[in-house]
Formats: sequence, structure tokens, C-alpha cells
Amino acid sequence: MPCSQKSQMYETTSAAYRDQLRHDDVHRVHRPSHLRGLVADGVPGPDSASRCIVHPAAPRYAPGMNRIVVTRTLPDAAMSLLDDAGTVWVWPQDRPIPREALLREVADASGLFSMLTDDVDQELLDAAPALRTVSTMAVGTDNIDLAACTARGIPVGHTPDVLTETTADMAFTLLLAAARRVREGIDYVVGGQWRRWEPNLLLGCEVHGTTLGIVGLGRIGSAVGRRALGFDMRIVYSGRRRRADLEDLGVSYMTFEELLGESDHVMISCPLTPETHHLFDRDAFRLMKPTATLTNIARGPIVDPRALEWALRTGEIAAAALDVTEPEPIPSGDPLLDLPNCLVVPHLGSATTRTREAMARLAAKNLIAGLAGEPLPACANPDAYLRRQAR
Ligand code: DGY
Repeated sequence: MPCSQKSQMYETTSAAYRDQLRHDDVHRVHRPSHLRGLVADGVPGPDSASRCIVHPAAPRYAPGMNRIVVTRTLPDAAMSLLDDAGTVWVWPQDRPIPREALLREVADASGLFSMLTDDVDQELLDAAPALRTVSTMAVGTDNIDLAACTARGIPVGHTPDVLTETTADMAFTLLLAAARRVREGIDYVVGGQWRRWEPNLLLGCEVHGTTLGIVGLGRIGSAVGRRALGFDMRIVYSGRRRRADLEDLGVSYMTFEELLGESDHVMISCPLTPETHHLFDRDAFRLMKPTATLTNIARGPIVDPRALEWALRTGEIAAAALDVTEPEPIPSGDPLLDLPNCLVVPHLGSATTRTREAMARLAAKNLIAGLAGEPLPACANPDAYLRRQAR
């Protein structure tokens, strides 16, 4: 639909909007450019809150027009791409959309732009009879029932590659921090305990020249491996797929059990699947060196949190660094948070401004291609195209 027609649809004065904003039973639509600068209560506000307006008169859809549901506020670059693809509805709050609201909003959606916090399952698909494309702003798709989407001929877009290096940077940051006891060092200084230099204070484990075990040598695992080469590390890996290309460069394949016994530092960078759920249980930790560290940059449920707590308390392993937890967010009372040798950050792997913008843009392009019936730039279930054609 041409932009002029779209703006006409939303044409009204700011004052009228302010009145409508107080209305209770409302729909939220993406703000047309002439109204940017107003927040939901009608006053100028900070960027993060200024994406959406609340407009009772806005149609849920217009015939022939795509209705796109976006579950979190996005960078402007991605929003302007979506603006031209249909009527865009954005969940305006700074927290994941409640399930009930999501199910309600997808009822007449043609496209869903979702986050890793939104479960896209059979129930959601049943609630969204007009849905033609799902696009998640993440590389991981464990929150999406890909088989169910494929069966419905719905291609699912995701965001590989654009976040690889940034996530590998964070993985290496965490590995170093765990090995060199950075959390304990910060606690020590902030707690006022630092009186003098001590020859035996907070001695950690070496990183350079040691063995790094990478569980899942995919895009991010390989990028971590490249960083490890700069630290003169020996690299071993385990996983579903052999990487002959990397083995030629000196990276050795091992079984998971062998890797645990050999590695000074273990990096989890495999997808969460039924096979990897709680892969790190007590038996796994028993096989690790007492001086080893564990870093999880992938998905929380790959590690059984109670087994990890046991391993860190009893000295089965030396330290852990977690970018992801089970559940997320980790409850504030979780015993892992009290362990000085456990460092937890809130799923920040891809969290740089440039990378999140690139992810949002790629996710927007995926959605737009899917709505146009074209192949997605990055599709997680290409079989969906075949299913669509077979109809
Ligand atoms: C992903 O994209 O799956 C990451 O976990 C996001 O940071």
C-alpha cells in the first residue's frame, strides 16, 4: 500500500490522539512519522517508549494489507523497513509480551516478528489462521516449533552470521573472566577488602597455551576457536557434525566424554535440542578437570543448574560463566548467584548496538520476503517452501 494511503488511514490530530490514548479498549499501531515524539500517554518521552501509539480507531487490518505483529520495540532502521510492508502493531512495553496478548494479536496477523522470549508453538499457530511468515530476531530457534511451522508452509526467518563475531567476543570475555576470577576480584574491591598486593590472592587458571573444548563447532563455536588460536590454545571439539575443513587446520574431534576429560576450558556453543537438554549433568561434571572452567554462550537448559551448583560447590570444576540460564531470567534467590566462582550475565551475547541493529534489519528483511512469497534471506526451515508449493 502506498505511504500516502497509509498516513491517511491514521490521519488525525495530536490532540485527538491524546484523547483517544485514555481509552481503555485499544489497539496499538506503529506510530506514523508525523506523530513521532509522543509516547503512549501523549507527552514527549524517551526513545524506548516512543514507538507506539494507542489508537482505538485503528483497523486491525485492511483488506489486502498485511498485518504485522512485532513483539518488542525495534531499532528505527528495522521499523522503517516494516512500515512499507503493512500495518505494524508493536508491543509497546519494555518486557516480553504476555502470552494472552500475543495470542490475541496474532489472530489476524499475516506476519509475526518475534523474540527468543516468545514461544511460537502449535497453540500460537492455531490462534493465527492467516499467519504466513514468522521472523525471530535471534539465531537460535529452540523457542519455535519448526516442524509445526513447516507443516503449515510457514517459513521461519532467523539471524545467523550477523551476530557471530559479537557473540564470540562475549564468549571469550566470559571464559577469561571465569578463569581469572574477575567476579571475585570485583567483589573483593567493592567489599573494601583490598588492603595490599598479595602473592597468593585470587590465583586463577591459565588460558593461553591450554586446551579449549568446544561443544558445538558451528558458526559461533568456530569464531570462538579463531580467538583461541590467538591465545595459543589447543582446540578440541565435539558435536553432531564433523568439520573436516577445521580438522585440516589442527582442530581435533573427540567424543563429548573425551572432550570433558581433556579440556582446561569448556565452551558450550551448540543448539538446544532434546539431545542437548541437560547435557551437562552430574556425570558430565564428574568427567571434567577440577581446574576446568565452563562457559555457556548457547542456551541455559543445556546445563542442569542444580548439577552445576553441586559441581562448583564440591570443586568438581573450578568456575563457570553463564550468559544464559535455566530459567531466564535466573531467579534472584538462585543459589548459583551466591557462588563466588559463578559469574552470570543476562543473555548479552549479541548485545552491541551495531549487532542488534543488524539482527533487527535482517529479521525485518526475512519477514518482508516471506510476506511477498519470496525466499527468506535466512530461513531456518526451507522445507516450508516445498510445503507451500505443494498446496
Ligand atoms: C540468539 O540469537 O540466539 C542469541 O542467543 C541472542 O543473543
